[in-house]
This record gives sequence, structure tokens and C-alpha cells, in this order.
Amino acid sequence: MNTFLLVVLVFSISIAAEELSRKELLSLLNVNASRSVDESRNEEQLSPDSFTDMLMDAKFIKVPEDTPILKLKKTNFLMATKVRESFDARREWPKCWSIGWIRQQSQCGSCWAVAAASMASDRMCINAPYYPMMLSSEDLLSCCGSYCGNGCSGGWPDKALNWWATNGLVTGTDYSDHQGCRPYTVPTCSWHNGVYSFPYNGAYRACPETFSVPQCYQQCQNGYFRNYTQDKYYGQPAYHVRPDVSAIQAEILEHGPVVATFTVYEDFNNFYKRESIYQHRSGGCKRPGGCGHVVKIIGWGVENQIPYWLCANSWGTQWGDGGFFRIRRGTNECGIETNVVAAMPRK
Ligand SMILES: *[C@@H]1O[C@H](CO)[C@@H](O)[C@H](O)[C@H]1NC(C)=O
Ligand SMILES: *[C@@H]1O[C@H](CO)[C@@H](O)[C@H](O)[C@H]1NC(C)=O
Repeated sequence: MNTFLLVVLVFSISIAAEELSRKELLSLLNVNASRSVDESRNEEQLSPDSFTDMLMDAKFIKVPEDTPILKLKKTNFLMATKVRESFDARREWPKCWSIGWIRQQSQCGSCWAVAAASMASDRMCINAPYYPMMLSSEDLLSCCGSYCGNGCSGGWPDKALNWWATNGLVTGTDYSDHQGCRPYTVPTCSWHNGVYSFPYNGAYRACPETFSVPQCYQQCQNGYFRNYTQDKYYGQPAYHVRPDVSAIQAEILEHGPVVATFTVYEDFNNFYKRESIYQHRSGGCKRPGGCGHVVKIIGWGVENQIPYWLCANSWGTQWGDGGFFRIRRGTNECGIETNVVAAMPRK
């Protein structure tokens, strides 16, 4: 079977069957190349600089004032605070495998687009139209322009979600998978400005001198079974979740994962070597524009009496715990609790 047919087949199946698990999808897709290269990392050669291209300017960290704050329902509030000591959205909505699908943003500060598209995918599956899908971070990164921010230098995730409401998002997976209408096109690369880029030490091509935002093509890749307009899925306007542990928990419980922006310090850059609960202790930010980053919060828990948030990063599966990490909860670690935003799909 040629690739063209495979693309059509896989996405027809994923939409028709509504039950395709991540494992089944991976076995259908031709993704062995990237996954096997991932095994060959060499941690010793990494420095904190390996991550600087993946961060964004500080001005994108704070949620803009004009984003409305969500009003909580009292019942949800009580449910979140009193009943659930731990929660993992992957277990709550097992059919929605996008929740646990770790994306790879590559050497571009596109975390705002990647996390927003990832959360939008989860919430499409959880709330409407009830089947697993992967919405395209490429569509956001390449087409949203200055409304969202500044491409590979960063963007506001709430603006990205508003763009989902006004312009919609087509489907699209990662660079390595290359499926859907508009898959991610920023290549994974190995070597930039004299340092290895995480996590592909020496295994991929050298990075380009500068990273440019992909072009906004309002069409699907060749062979995709629908056209760009037909493939658009829409959201509702974004809101700011009140900066309060219970409010964030209630939001996740009722509607699914949320998007959170925080500051990455040097000790987080190197955190992938550990499997603990991250808490900022040392190191600053050396990236001139600032060290903002956006991730998806998918749950929470408590370990050895330390409460934590369970987050999905977008630095591939070799970083952290299979691409996930835990960060201390209740102390507004690195600002992660003050900058939580979300949006619902359009019904
Ligand atoms: C996947 O692995 C098989 C067998 O090792 C190989 O023939 C095939 O070319 C690989 N696919 C890709 C995309 O590299
Ligand atoms: C996309 O497909 C629909 C339905 O076949 C059609 O009406 C529309 O004109 C197409 N749009 C483009 C841009 O080709």
C-alpha cells in the first residue's frame, strides 16, 4: 500500500471507527523511524542551552487582562476539593488518546500553539464530537500571525484558543508522523548554535541557522481525504481559569485538560534526568527574551505528602517521564497556577 492510501485509510478509520486507540494508530502509521532514533540519546552532552530555542519571550507568560475569568459552579468546586485526591485525564477518558500523546515542538518556541492545539484536540474528544482526533498546531503557528504573538518566539495560548473559535483548526499530527490535513513541519534537528538540541543528539540533521515560522497554506497536504475548509473544527472563546488550585481542578474534572504558562528556569531544563516532582530551587533564565513555556495540565496527585500537577510537555517522549512531568501543586510554582487558560469546542 502506498503512503497516499495509508493516509486516507488511517484518517478514515479514526473518524469512522471512533475507537482507535493510540497504540492501534501507531501500529498503523509508519512511525518507527522517529521512535527508534529516540533511544539513542546521550544525556551527558546536553547543556541547559539545549532547550533555549524551545522557550518563548517573557511577555507571553501573563494571561492578557481582556481574557474573561471563568465563573465556577459551586458543586464542581466541592467535588474537586473534597473527593478526588488524584486524577489523570488519560484514565478518565481512555478513548481520547490525544490526552497522552506527547508532541514534539522542535527548536521553535511554538509551545503556545502546540499546547493549545493539543488541549483543543482533547476537548473535542471529551465534549464534542466524541471521537479521538489531533488538531494541527501547524495551522495555528503558521496562520494566526501577530494576533497570537510572534511565531517561534512565543505567543499567547488564550489568543490561540480564540483563533480556534474564529478560524477553526484543521487536523494534523507531528512532523515525524505526518498525518492529517496539516501536520507539523518544523523539522526535528540535532545541532544548533554550538549545542546539541534535545533530544536528538547527533541523530538528526543540523538545525537551520534561524527558525522561520512555516507558511500559512490554507490547504491540506496531498492525498488527505478532505479539503481545508471541510477539515476545520471550531472552538468557543477562551477563558482564564481563576488562579486557585480548586478552580483549576474543577475545570479539568468537568471539561478536560487545561493549558498553563510558566517560567522555565535552568533547573527545569535539566529536570529530564530526574523522575521527581519539580520545584524551582536553583538557576535563572539565560535566554535574552525570557523563558516562558506552555504545557498542558492533565491531572494531579500527591506523593510522599507533596501535592503535584501532572503535565504533558511538548519536547518529545525522551524528556521527563515519557514526555510528562510533575510539578509541585499549591505553591504557584514558576507561576503555573496564575496563567491557566482553556476553551470549549463549539457544539
Ligand atoms: C520501519 O522499519 C522497517 C523495518 O525495519 C523499514 O523497512 C521501514 O523503512 C521503516 N519505516 C520508516 C518510515 O523508516
Ligand atoms: C471543499 O469541498 C466542498 C465540498 O465538496 C466544496 O463545496 C468546497 O468548494 C471545497 N473548497 C475548496 C476550497 O476547494
